[in-house]
Amino acid sequence: MSNNEMTPSDRTPEDRTPDQDQPVPDPGLEPYVERFSDADPDAGRRVYRQIVTMYGLAPILAVAFVVCYFAIPRDAAVRIGPLHTSAMNLALGGTAGLAILLIGLASIHWAKQIMEDREVVEERHPVASSAQDRREMGAAWRAGAADSRLGRRKMVGLALGSALGALALPALVTLADLGPKPTSKVRAETIERTIWAEGVRLVNDVTFTPVKAAEMQIGELVNAQPENLKKYHGAEQQTERAKASIIIVRMDPASIKIPDSRRDWQVGGILSYSKICTHVGCPISLWEQQTHHLLCPCHQSTFDLGDSGVVVFGPAARALPQLPITVDSEGYLVARSDFTVPVGPSYFERDSRHDFKKGDN
Ligand code: FES
Repeated sequence: MSNNEMTPSDRTPEDRTPDQDQPVPDPGLEPYVERFSDADPDAGRRVYRQIVTMYGLAPILAVAFVVCYFAIPRDAAVRIGPLHTSAMNLALGGTAGLAILLIGLASIHWAKQIMEDREVVEERHPVASSAQDRREMGAAWRAGAADSRLGRRKMVGLALGSALGALALPALVTLADLGPKPTSKVRAETIERTIWAEGVRLVNDVTFTPVKAAEMQIGELVNAQPENLKKYHGAEQQTERAKASIIIVRMDPASIKIPDSRRDWQVGGILSYSKICTHVGCPISLWEQQTHHLLCPCHQSTFDLGDSGVVVFGPAARALPQLPITVDSEGYLVARSDFTVPVGPSYFERDSRHDFKKGDN
């Protein structure tokens, strides 16, 4: 049996050639196959045109992104089979995604069909880089730049540069969604105001029926909204609802503390508070009738509704804002005014001087 016909277990150490001594013999290099784009000049030019076209479409898609951003109404929707989705999201995602995909495909095509195709052997060497290594690195970098053929195929470089540069446009345009600059005037008209006003009835959150003071039992909690919420629609209604949501609770007046400054903010132990946690804004309605505590499920902040909504536990830093309420001529609960302090989480510019603190009267 010749050496080549032997299996590895047949060979004695003397039979083995140096290569057969290795656990996995060196398979050597695959025979070189010339690429079609090198073998056929027409094919090479076709590949070049494909790459430039793909890079060239990316800026057009970036501009389309911007046009869609401004042209498509925010509440427009499209139906594609069972999918019902926002037209703007679809258009923005489609244009930006396709632009990135085209840049990726063009780059892969460029690397596989146009860049230099020779095999390179790299010797292993110590990790420390000597001055000579750095010189060689510089030379390799310059050789790589030459191999990329950017010198001869200038349009590829230009197309790639403009495609990547144009992608900054969608990113910049969407910064507009960060909203108006929160000046004190803007804040006063937006996050520091709700649609509660004098005489607005408190209506049940689910049935939208007005809440009658006489019908509330001690220990009862009702999730409620302002009656005038019906005037709003779509996103505007959601925005106003998020700020104006309240809870109404009835407690035994003898078992709670009502400061003098808030004596006429309640009706026989019926009090109303913002439903929005002052930590980071979760809606709250976990109510402990016996302790009068309201628990936020998100991070366990606990507010004492029998003591003007002060924080008794957890990360919230401010008491729950209380809505001043009274009853109208028909006995329905109505607001006396808007909240006296902004509802919801804290923010840098918020003026906290008017927040209720434990012990205030
Ligand atoms: S949002 Fe309520 S405790 Fe964090």
